[in-house]
Amino acid sequence: MKLIQFREPGPPRVLQCLDVPVPEPKPGEVLIRAHAIGVGIPDCLIRAGTYGWMPPLPATPGTEMSGIVEKVGPGVTSRRPGQRVYTTARERPHRGGHYAECVATPAEATFVLPDNVGFDEAATLANYQVAYHIFNDAVRPQRGQSMLTYAAAGGMGNALIDLAKAAGLVIIGVVGSEEKARFARELGTDHVIDRKREHVGKRVSEITNSRGVDVIVDPVGGPSIPGNIALLAPSGTLVVYGGLGGKAQLDLQPTLRASKNSPAIRQFSIHTWDHLVEERRAGMRALIGMLDAGKLHPRIHARLPLAQAARAHEMLESGAVLGKLLLVP
Ligand SMILES: NC(=O)c1ccc[n+]([C@@H]2O[C@H](COP(=O)([O-])OP(=O)(O)OC[C@H]3O[C@@H](n4cnc5c(N)ncnc54)[C@H](OP(=O)(O)O)[C@@H]3O)[C@@H](O)[C@H]2O)c1
Repeated sequence: MKLIQFREPGPPRVLQCLDVPVPEPKPGEVLIRAHAIGVGIPDCLIRAGTYGWMPPLPATPGTEMSGIVEKVGPGVTSRRPGQRVYTTARERPHRGGHYAECVATPAEATFVLPDNVGFDEAATLANYQVAYHIFNDAVRPQRGQSMLTYAAAGGMGNALIDLAKAAGLVIIGVVGSEEKARFARELGTDHVIDRKREHVGKRVSEITNSRGVDVIVDPVGGPSIPGNIALLAPSGTLVVYGGLGGKAQLDLQPTLRASKNSPAIRQFSIHTWDHLVEERRAGMRALIGMLDAGKLHPRIHARLPLAQAARAHEMLESGAVLGKLLLVP
């Protein structure tokens, strides 16, 4: 079977496509044959060696996969061959591991998919899991409040917009091109700001009648933090959940003292749920239920062959992806 692996971190070309034997499920494990594999920025961070929770090397990127149980290992009674499932590295001790035609994984790391839920849409669930815990745990916005999200046309943006719409929020989406602006509107963004052509602060002020935004969900972090604090409404919350803008040594005291809005800043990481097993699984089951009920609308940018994992990373890192990119075996 095909397996994507890198020996040393580096640019996308370090990803090699190997031909390896199909793994045998050990006691308690199931063997899953992939139908769709999600690609996200955390995979690129693992490949680049900058992820905060690196798996041991050599490593295979990939947070998630949907597919069919092909075989069950000794002692497994909760799953059976032929079942359609979703599985995620967030249920395993190490991140990555899913850029493969097949994986052997603990049965408890799998979620059974209802017939109604397609393999492609299931392979986007990692983003929805982050968005779910942002809205249910990190901030609990009230219906009618406003939310601003950066990278609104990306995979995480798609998930945040879907859940924000379900929660009745007014959505402001920031994007980096006209094409992405159109796409973000299609996803349901109420107000779109093109950060390359418009002044984000001025537009936020116009949209909110100078009140500011109740919740900002920010994957950029670093140098963007002071500017985002200034965009908050009274008692607003800035949730920083990524580091696309790079690192910055910040003295936030002057910004916080100057702000009259009693702002809150929250650093969000899905790793908080690494040890909150029941909460994490309950969230995932709720999201699969929402997919089943047609309440989530993940959009797929493209389905690339697994062997083209390096190209997938180049596309994602160049900002060319609208919605979610998938690898298929
Ligand atoms: N904290 C967690 O637990 C967690 C878990 C999963 C993912 N994440 C984070 O979620 C973020 C999005 O991941 P994704 O896979 O869905 O990727 P994505 O949104 O498809 O791709 C990144 C997009 O971010 C925007 N961007 C890049 N640099 C920017 C900058 N300096 N300022 C403003 N926007 C910038 C670009 O869109 P535009 O050109 O349209 O602006 C780019 O296309 C990443 O930061 C990732 O690390 C965090």
